[in-house]
Amino acid sequence: MDTDPPWIDIRRLVDVPQVAPFLRAWLLDEWESWYGPDGPGDIDAAYPSHMSGNTFPTALVAVDETGAVVGTICLREQSSSHLEFNPWVGGLLVARDRRRQGIGSALVKAAEDEARRLGVRKLYLETHAAASVVVRRGWIAVAPGEPADGPAMVYALDL
Ligand SMILES: CC(C)(COP(=O)(O)OP(=O)(O)OC[C@H]1O[C@@H](n2cnc3c(N)ncnc32)[C@H](O)[C@@H]1OP(=O)(O)O)[C@@H](O)C(=O)NCCC(=O)NCCS
Repeated sequence: MDTDPPWIDIRRLVDVPQVAPFLRAWLLDEWESWYGPDGPGDIDAAYPSHMSGNTFPTALVAVDETGAVVGTICLREQSSSHLEFNPWVGGLLVARDRRRQGIGSALVKAAEDEARRLGVRKLYLETHAAASVVVRRGWIAVAPGEPADGPAMVYALDL
C-alpha cells in the first residue's frame, strides 16, 4: 500500500507539539511493561521534549480529520537491544479501532521518507505484529529478534 489513506495526515511530532501529552499517555498506557515505572524503557529519553525534527530521535503521528492522533512511529539513532543495527524504527502503534485500514503501512512509509530526508541509507526495525506490513514494503529479515520478543525478527530496508 503506497498511498496514505485520504483521511489521515502524517505529521512530525515537532510540528504538532500540542499532541505530545496525549501521545505520552497513550504510549505509557499501551506499553506499560516497557515504559511504566517497573519497565526498562524511559519515555522521556525516547521522546525528549527538545526533539528538533532534523535529527534523531524524531517521531511522526497520524492525525485524523478531527485532529485525533490515530497512530505513531519513531526513528531513533539506535535500538536499546540491537546496538549493531542502526538507525532504528520503533514505537509503531495504531489506535485499536483504526487498525487494518492502512495507517500502519502509511506510517512505515512516512518513516522511510523521513529517514531519507535525514540522509539515512539503511534502516532497521524489529517486529512480529507488523511483519506483513514491512515485508510488503520490501523490508528483508536480517536477524532473529530478542528471545523475549517471541517470533519477532529484525528487518532492514535499503533506502
Ligand atoms: C501492527 C500495527 C501497527 C499494524 O497497523 P495497521 O494500521 O493495522 O496496519 P495496516 O492496516 O497497514 O496493515 C495491517 C493489515 O491490514 C490490511 N489492510 C490494510 N488496509 C486495509 C483495508 N482497507 N481493508 C482491509 N484490510 C486492510 C493489510 O493488508 C494488513 O494485512 P495483513 O497484516 O493481514 O497482511 C497495529 O496492529 C498495532 O498498533 N499493533 C499494536 C502495536 C504493535 O504491535 N506494534 C508493532 C511493533 S513493531
